[in-house]
Amino acid sequence: MAFSVRALASQNIRCSVRQFSSTSQNNAKVAVLGASGGIGQPMSLLIKQSPLVSHLSLYDIANTPGVAADLSHIETKAKVTGHQGPDQLQECLEGCSVVIIPAGVPRKPGMTRDDLFNTNASIVKTLAEGCAKYCPKAMIGIISNPVNSTVPITTEVFKAAGVYDPRRIFGVSTLDIVRANTFIAEAKGLDVGATNCPVIGGHSGITIIPLVSQCTPKVSFSDEDLQKMTERIQNAGTEVVNAKAGAGSATLSMAYAGARFTFSLLEAMNGKQGVIECAFVKSELTEATYFASPLLLGPNGIERNLGLGTLSNFETKILNECIEELKKNIAKGEEFAANN
Ligand code: NAD
Ligand code: LMR
Repeated sequence: MAFSVRALASQNIRCSVRQFSSTSQNNAKVAVLGASGGIGQPMSLLIKQSPLVSHLSLYDIANTPGVAADLSHIETKAKVTGHQGPDQLQECLEGCSVVIIPAGVPRKPGMTRDDLFNTNASIVKTLAEGCAKYCPKAMIGIISNPVNSTVPITTEVFKAAGVYDPRRIFGVSTLDIVRANTFIAEAKGLDVGATNCPVIGGHSGITIIPLVSQCTPKVSFSDEDLQKMTERIQNAGTEVVNAKAGAGSATLSMAYAGARFTFSLLEAMNGKQGVIECAFVKSELTEATYFASPLLLGPNGIERNLGLGTLSNFETKILNECIEELKKNIAKGEEFAANN
């Protein structure tokens, strides 16, 4: 899982590029919408390293020419183009097979992700409309918060355009898994590169449900330590928001997580078997109509939803407690899409 980012972290970049380019047939055009931002820039830098990408197409309402010129000097395969403002969205998106969207405002201390809704809902809706029109078959990864609501907005836009395929729309919750792996490995003295903890539910506060009982390798915590670990994973975004003290939210770790998710999509689209990532998607697993769970990815996006597995009593309890909140967040997104 997620070979490239983890591989790039531990290997010489040019070696990995050569190694993978000899086995890859893929020539994907990948777009980043919100490419000049705190997440957009470092994530684009990571995606530029992938030999599976032949064209990296960067869109923002500001500063894209500079970001694109800078990235375009890097000696890796992907051609880089910059597109600024709504008039250039079409050329950014045409021919894309993957679009990753971190456009929108981040939190400041004291805010919830839902407090971003008023600004980000319309940004995501407009960009989703562009995707539905210019690259309706692309895989869409939504990073912009509140993910629990922006993903339903995207779905409604695709439905309205008559191009909806639930296998291709994802809320990127990878950072929750990345954090769970890091914190658990630190606590237990494990090799973090070999630690994998699924995280299900949604992407905010109590809707983030780490399945520590399904962690590989197996780990055990006292009840008190499990509670603390779960809360740390749930509040990790706020930990960064507070540490940045008004300068935004997680950008670098999100760039890593977004690139990891993009590479997994590309590998699966390229025929690699057994690629699994958790993401927030349309779902029938619970009463909430969207839910993050482990997904087997394939050439057309979600090949199979792998479900919840066997939950501990603690995990069942926190899952049940989050469903109402999740349903409210989902309904808010759907209502916005219906009324705007
Ligand atoms: P940022 O302010 O640094 O960057 C956002 C970028 O979006 C800016 O470059 C801005 O110009 C651009 N933008 C604004 N309106 C746009 C539009 N209409 N079209 C295109 N681009 C537009 O913010 P950031 O730190 O990069 O965070 C971006 C979003 O990602 C926030 O909503 C944040 O909450 C979210 N986020 C999500 C996760 C997650 O796990 N899913 C993690 C971290 C941050
Ligand atoms: C995160 O989890 O870091 C993001 O959702 C950003 C935030 O506002 O916490």
